[in-house]
Amino acid sequence: MTSFVPPLRKTNPHLPFGDQRTAPWYGHDIISVKEMSRKDLEYIFGVAHEMREMVARVGSFDLLKGKILANLFYEPSTRTSSSFTSAMERLGGSVIPINEVHYSSVAKGESLPDTIRTLECYTDVIVLRHPEVGAAKIAADAARKPVINAGDGIGEHPTQALLDMFTILEELHTVDGLTVTMVGDLKFGRTVHSLSRLLSLYGVKINYVAPEILRMPAEIITELDEKGVSQAQYDVLTEEVIQSSDVLYVTRVQRERFKDTAEYEKTKDAFIISPDTLTHAKDKMIVMHPFPRVNEITPGVDEDPRAAYFRQMEYGLYVRMALLAMVLGKA
Ligand code: NCD
Repeated sequence: MTSFVPPLRKTNPHLPFGDQRTAPWYGHDIISVKEMSRKDLEYIFGVAHEMREMVARVGSFDLLKGKILANLFYEPSTRTSSSFTSAMERLGGSVIPINEVHYSSVAKGESLPDTIRTLECYTDVIVLRHPEVGAAKIAADAARKPVINAGDGIGEHPTQALLDMFTILEELHTVDGLTVTMVGDLKFGRTVHSLSRLLSLYGVKINYVAPEILRMPAEIITELDEKGVSQAQYDVLTEEVIQSSDVLYVTRVQRERFKDTAEYEKTKDAFIISPDTLTHAKDKMIVMHPFPRVNEITPGVDEDPRAAYFRQMEYGLYVRMALLAMVLGKA
C-alpha cells in the first residue's frame, strides 16, 4: 500500500499569511480514494471527530474565516452540496454555489478547465460534481487550488466513502473483522466503488448483492482480490447473508445511467428492505444508504435503531469540515 504523499505541484505564490504550508494535506486535491492509506483515514477521522465535538460545543467557529468555497454541481445533489455549504459556513468561510449550470457560462459552451480556472480566481477551494468519469481529475489538473471530487459520473465519490467509513467507526467502533453487504446498483453506484476500495484497507468480508446486470465492476473485484479481501457475489439477498452482516449498505438503482429504460424498470425494485427483512439480522447491525432512496428501504425501517442513514448524513458534515480544513492548511 502506498501512503498518500502530498503532491508539491500546487505551489501558490499568493498564499495568504498564516496558512500552514507544511500541513500534510495542504493544497491537496481529493479525487480518488485509490491512493489513501489506513493512516490517512485515521488522520481524517481524528480531525472529523474534533469537528463533531466543536459543532456540539459551539456550533460554528472561525477556522476558515475569509476562505471561499466554489460548490460547482453539474448533477443534482441535496446532501453533498448542502453539507459542503454547511461545513464551510460552520468553519466561518463562505460559499459560491453554482448549481444552475444552465445559467452560468457552461451553457454557452465553456470548457470545464476554463470554468475551473475562472472560479479559482475568486475562491480557495473547488468542490465539483460532474456526470463524466475523470472530470474531477481534469479539473484538478487545470487548477492551482485544491479540487474535491463530489462524484464523477459512475467513477468515484471519495468524500461519501470517507463519511461512510467514519459512520461505521462511530457506530460500530471498528472496521476490522466486519462483514459488509452492499445491495443494489453496484455497477453504476459510485459510492460503492469508492467504499469497497476503502474497506479493502481493513480486514473485512464484502458481500455484493445485485441483479446480474448491475454487478460490481470486474476491475474492482480484481483489485480487491489482489489485496486479499474476501468477497462474494449474490443475486438474491438470502437470510444467511443478512444474518451474517454487520453493515447492510443499500443503494439506489441509478436511473439516469441507464440507456434502456426497460432495463431500469426491470431492476429498480430488485431489493426492498422492510422491517421484515431485518427480523433475524444482528441487533448491532447497521443499515446504511448514501441517499436519495427511492423504494429500496421502506419508511417503516426508519424507526429501527439499526437504521443509521440519517446519522450517516450528519457524520458527513464532520468529515467534510475536516477535509476542507485539511486542504486549506488549517488541520
Ligand atoms: C449518491 C451520489 O450522488 O452518488 N448520493 C450522495 O452523494 N449521497 C448516491 C445516489 O445518487 O444514489
